[in-house]
Amino acid sequence: MANTIGVIGAGTMGSGIAQVAALAGYTVILYDIEQSAIDRGMQTIYNNLSKGVEKNKLTGHDAEKAKRNISTTLDLMRMKSATTVIEAVIERLDIKQGLFQRLDEILSHESIIATNTSSLSITALGATTKRPDRVIGMHFFNPAHIMKLVEIIKGKETSHTTISRITSLAKEFGKKPVLASDTPGFIVNRVARPFYGEALRLLGEGVASVEEIDRIVKKSGGFKMGPFELMDLIGIDVNLSVSRSVYEQYFHEARYRPHPIQQQMVDGNLLGRKTGKGFYEY
Ligand SMILES: NC(=O)c1ccc[n+]([C@@H]2O[C@H](COP(=O)([O-])OP(=O)(O)OC[C@H]3O[C@@H](n4cnc5c(N)ncnc54)[C@H](O)[C@@H]3O)[C@@H](O)[C@H]2O)c1
Repeated sequence: MANTIGVIGAGTMGSGIAQVAALAGYTVILYDIEQSAIDRGMQTIYNNLSKGVEKNKLTGHDAEKAKRNISTTLDLMRMKSATTVIEAVIERLDIKQGLFQRLDEILSHESIIATNTSSLSITALGATTKRPDRVIGMHFFNPAHIMKLVEIIKGKETSHTTISRITSLAKEFGKKPVLASDTPGFIVNRVARPFYGEALRLLGEGVASVEEIDRIVKKSGGFKMGPFELMDLIGIDVNLSVSRSVYEQYFHEARYRPHPIQQQMVDGNLLGRKTGKGFYEY
């Protein structure tokens, strides 16, 4: 009971977070509304663990133990035993708020609800519960089992005890936590907006191609990935939701405006790696 972590959403981020928590020795309950998402998420975890063993980053024993630590469910009531829940569902305030209200009723009084949101207000999520002091941002980066940075975001009512518990948890996960303020996009997603936005504008104006922009940014700029490769990794749908959310929250400030190319790609189900085709083919 004391060591149970609930993860809500078994997609790109939720599955990665479940893997990290299980490897750190926690009992993990992974929840989604779709059995197919759970199956895909578990397959990704199994593949990642196997790769970890092949590369000698993990022992076979650690990988097996991590697998045993994770159980899955379509029943939110199972979160009852979790002391910390980490939410990683789609980037929509209304959906997350509805979920937080239900979790607030299900979870024990002391339990913390953390969110992996990329851009939404922690304060607005906390306000839909009777425990705003125990609601916090815990923002992992993609791929969650590799990237070390975790932004810890304090909402207006988040208590110091909650910050300290989640900071310690991030360290136990082997991550590097950094405290950020509750502003749209926090630190990294704010800095990243022009990275994607200007690349999309260059493409839209016909200044350079996807491949050229990525190549120049990587070769001459020293970035590990180009903006288009990164959007394909994140998911064009997820990236558009975050772009929209930051734009809305800054009252339509022009520099954050999403680009029609993003919408067109979402309309065409060209979501990047997860659908096999985005700016590149996989
Ligand atoms: N993709 C990234 O690079 C990235 C990085 C950091 C943070 N995030 C954030 O993490 C969150 C999840 O993003 P993702 O890329 O994993 O998305 P995803 O689309 O890969 O997965 C979302 C999952 O949530 C499930 N879901 C939807 N509504 C639900 C509900 N009401 N209850 C339970 N499950 C529900 C879906 O079935 C799906 O499996 C978002 O808030 C996003 O902004 C994403």
